[in-house]
Amino acid sequence: MMYSEKVMDHFTNPRNVGEIADADAIGQVGNPKCGDIMKMYFKIENDVIVDVKFKTFGCGSAIASSSMATELIKGKTIDEALALSNRAVADALDGLPPAKMHCSVLAEEAIKSAMFDFAQRHKRDFEGLKGYQ
Ligand code: FES
Ligand code: FES
Repeated sequence: MMYSEKVMDHFTNPRNVGEIADADAIGQVGNPKCGDIMKMYFKIENDVIVDVKFKTFGCGSAIASSSMATELIKGKTIDEALALSNRAVADALDGLPPAKMHCSVLAEEAIKSAMFDFAQRHKRDFEGLKGYQ
């Protein structure tokens, strides 16, 4: 079996799909190689992620990665979300095939993109955004 049960589960029954109309932060990233796009919407209160939703136009691994990533960061602080690596997302899914690791990178980048949006809106600085532009 190429994909773990967790990948199949999060692909066929993804968590936190959708949009948030009055989002406090929005992140969008695309993979230039495969053309897949991931968008994440956040509600943030006192630097805690109280809600997160995603829309992914992409492969099953990208959908599973976004679903798992949103589960992992819900209720966490911005700093904790920024510390989430694509490797941790893949591990939480019990692994991804090597050729599909870039799909989990999209999830990490979508979170960073959204937190960058939040930082800009509020003129804030976050340690985990160092070197991000
Ligand atoms: Fe997105 Fe394979 S490139 S489905
Ligand atoms: Fe490109 Fe999965 S094949 S994100």
